[in-house]
Amino acid sequence: MNSDYETTIRIGEIYMVWTKTLAVDDLAPNTRQVVKLEEKSLLLINESGTIYAIDKVCPHLKLSFKNSKVTPDGSIICRWHRSEFDLATGNVKNWCPFPPVVGNVLGKISSEKTLGVFPTKVEDGQILVDISA
Ligand code: FES
Repeated sequence: MNSDYETTIRIGEIYMVWTKTLAVDDLAPNTRQVVKLEEKSLLLINESGTIYAIDKVCPHLKLSFKNSKVTPDGSIICRWHRSEFDLATGNVKNWCPFPPVVGNVLGKISSEKTLGVFPTKVEDGQILVDISA
């Protein structure tokens, strides 16, 4: 244990560093909140009881995910150029399709990148996130 807010667990050769963020009661279902851990700004999303932690900004042009749509099947669609990412894996489902034609050009400005996603768990009413990987 490194502090009141951090716990390190070794699983095989993989170390998980769990850091407390919010009380689970402070992130109601179907809401989201930005938290800062070390130098990272993360977006915590509670999608119908499943909690995700992702980079606060889209990997396309580093614009905020604020007001971006979360889908019931666990994706986030960036409101700017509608790139779609799997919230669990960060994999790209659709890269920069909007606006039509122009979106394809914008998509080539920044090559396709996965979204930063981070493991989460709830323990003792607290949301813990591992940003060590
Ligand atoms: S900034 Fe997100 S798709 Fe362009």
